[in-house]
Amino acid sequence: MSDARESRELVIVVDFGAQYAQLIARRIRECRVYSEIVPFDRPAAGILALKPKGIILSGGPASVYGEGAPRCDPQLYRSGVPVLGICYGMQLMSRELGGDVVRGDTREYGRTELHVESKGDLFEGLDRQLAAWMSHGDIVTRPPDGFAVTARTPTAIAAMSDPRRKLFGVQFHPEVVHTPAGKEIFRNFLYRQCGCRGRWTPESIVEESCRATRDQVQDGRVLCALSGGVDSSAVAALCHRAVGDRLVCIFVDHGLLRQGEAEQVRDTFARHFGINLIAVDAQDRFLERLAGITDPEQKRIIIGHEFVSVFQEHADRLGDVRYLAQGTLYPDVIESGTGTAATIKSHHNVGGLPETMGLTLIEPFRNLFKDEVRAVARELRLPDEIVWRQPFPGPGLAVRILGEVTRPRLAALRKADAIILDEITKAGYYRKLFQSFGVLAPVKSVGVMGDERTYGDTIIVRAVAGEDAMTADWAHLPHELLGAISNRIVNEVAGVTRVAYDITSKPPATIEWE
Ligand code: XMP
Repeated sequence: MSDARESRELVIVVDFGAQYAQLIARRIRECRVYSEIVPFDRPAAGILALKPKGIILSGGPASVYGEGAPRCDPQLYRSGVPVLGICYGMQLMSRELGGDVVRGDTREYGRTELHVESKGDLFEGLDRQLAAWMSHGDIVTRPPDGFAVTARTPTAIAAMSDPRRKLFGVQFHPEVVHTPAGKEIFRNFLYRQCGCRGRWTPESIVEESCRATRDQVQDGRVLCALSGGVDSSAVAALCHRAVGDRLVCIFVDHGLLRQGEAEQVRDTFARHFGINLIAVDAQDRFLERLAGITDPEQKRIIIGHEFVSVFQEHADRLGDVRYLAQGTLYPDVIESGTGTAATIKSHHNVGGLPETMGLTLIEPFRNLFKDEVRAVARELRLPDEIVWRQPFPGPGLAVRILGEVTRPRLAALRKADAIILDEITKAGYYRKLFQSFGVLAPVKSVGVMGDERTYGDTIIVRAVAGEDAMTADWAHLPHELLGAISNRIVNEVAGVTRVAYDITSKPPATIEWE
């Protein structure tokens, strides 16, 4: 990271409330400026050592008058680096620098109109009247000396600035979609005040990550557990570009994959990329271990352990393996909040291999969001079907077959799932959905086909929309599409008599059924 960082324009987001900070970081990156989130109590020296071009103080749920209200190191205001305080960030800056902040009795959120009083700095090029998403909690009633009010709502100061010290504040949230001019406001801050040029592009990410990976890998081989999903595929392609034949990928077919999936992954990586790929057919051993198991957690544990065994056996056979490459993403790192995410993720993905085998982790994307990985994957010329692939869980169809996992049940679900994906793709919905798949329920029901009574299985169609896996809405698919899926499944998948549609969002449900 260190070398790669040198050429980057970095903007630091000081985090006073996780959700806001993540959104702000995304918006900055959309302006092609690299951003990182740091906790509010990070000393100024540590932040300034990163040589940021700008600093953004995020919003957050606290009141500046609350007990133990989070504060950042006030040295940041005197560092000469441009600072933009958003909502809580503005109130805090105002209070710390001698302005007046009045405590609001209630905290309300809502859309508001703001009037721009000075079109300089943040509002350059924008209309005088702007819609914005405002948080009415504490409000600044008098900015600190040296600041001018640059925008107002009918009831409050909406923005203030001190161009001489390069300190700015907005009471509203430019990072949310309900503030349509938000991106322009960020661009004005980044390009006009911080002097950023917008170099954070997929090409530069690939170039820098490649260089960093090459620097990190001194000797020995790099192993990459390839699932065929966009994260691990992009990691593999990037490591291949960085270290060539010293990369070995392992793709384990545990018998729980979707129709044609194993062939597609093998074909893409071995044939098109010329990557060293060990494709392991481990179907029998996984399915044997899963025989008779119906408990969801037990299924996951068995699959996890078996995966580790297969991986370890092949790594031992290969010899000289020193590194493990994996597709940890930035949200995983942030969620841990402590910088220990690498360990958590390695347990999650490959069951503790780095510890037991003494491997060093290579995580080229630990600073990227999913959409950035997709852009990197495109830059690495991965085919569209991988770049835009919907997420698929490690335990595969085992967590979509409720009850025992058997070969006939796998065959039925695979066929139904392929129909669902086919119809959804034909209708132009595949990329609009976060995930779409079939679930085989342990429920039999009566049907009638021809003149015969039938008594067969139930397939549940699950389709959700959303930006990440933390929340998801059940997708309002057209009835015609659901009808086509249902007809085809009942007609083409032997033994299925009924199709149902899951209309539960996350929360309260999870996306997967197990
Ligand atoms: P849930 O079902 O908890 O899933 O809403 C959230 C997201 O994670 C995926 N998922 C997994 N991915 N290993 C994985 O790599 C797993 O064990 C696993 N379980 C769930 C799920 O498909 C969804 O995208």
